[in-house]
Amino acid sequence: MFSEYAPFTTKYFYHIVIAVISFVLFNKFFNWSYRRIAPKVDEKLFEDVQEEPALPKDLKHIPYRYIRLPEKEMLSRASEFYQIAAARRTLRYFSANPVPKEVIREIIRAAGTAPSGAHTEPWSFVVVSNQTMKSKIRSIVEQEEEINYRKRMGVKWTVDLSPLRTNWIKEYLTIAPYLILVFKQTYGTLPNGKKKIHYYHEMSVSIACGILITAIQYAGLVTLTSTPLNCGPAIRSLLGRPANEKLVLLLPVGYPAKDATVPDLQRKPLSEILTEIY
Ligand SMILES: *[C@@H]1O[C@H](CO)[C@@H](O)[C@H](O)[C@H]1NC(C)=O
Repeated sequence: MFSEYAPFTTKYFYHIVIAVISFVLFNKFFNWSYRRIAPKVDEKLFEDVQEEPALPKDLKHIPYRYIRLPEKEMLSRASEFYQIAAARRTLRYFSANPVPKEVIREIIRAAGTAPSGAHTEPWSFVVVSNQTMKSKIRSIVEQEEEINYRKRMGVKWTVDLSPLRTNWIKEYLTIAPYLILVFKQTYGTLPNGKKKIHYYHEMSVSIACGILITAIQYAGLVTLTSTPLNCGPAIRSLLGRPANEKLVLLLPVGYPAKDATVPDLQRKPLSEILTEIY
């Protein structure tokens, strides 16, 4: 009966069985050999975890200061904030005009207010304005990106990207006055030298990045959210970052070029992204 519906399965039954067995064996061997060469970061993490809470046991709780806004003002502020957020666009063309570094510092201070799992604050921000360093970062990114575009991304992805006119030449990495590199700390260190678990570090850092790009927008600057595929380790060692940090985002920040263009995209209307249950 089964063969009626899937003659292929019966005809090639032995081939399928052999394929499945080889796959299982290959996986077992791969895991075994990979474990022998890979640094045992994760296993160590769980051998060596703290028994004590990372925050003081007697942490004080204080009254929350709150000023309630009138409803009308709430709505006007929410709409105003929407307008600011909606005006943000991902820019690929930057001006080399300098930006005061105090502005960048305030933007990063804002990003550092993000909530984080168990208040671990698992982020590090590296700001690069040194031209030599920017060139080094650019050449790492371009080298990897060329391989990504030519080999790794696959036809579908490159076809999907083509209307956005992206490629592996990243001039903005040397033109924009600043590069902000966001690292997530996959674990931390306690004062006693033991490892501190960073719960939900991925989510915490993503939220910080959301605040970061909104702060950039609010300050009147532009950026491009780039996730440099496979460049993490090379950039991490170039910048001398510790082993517990992984590169999450690389953001050029500055003013837009005078003749900058952006793709004519529309955002989904509220009705498509919101389901209300009253
Ligand atoms: C930029 O960094 C390079 C080496 O990383 C250094 O030699 C150079 O002096 C720096 N440039 C400035 C303007 O500080």
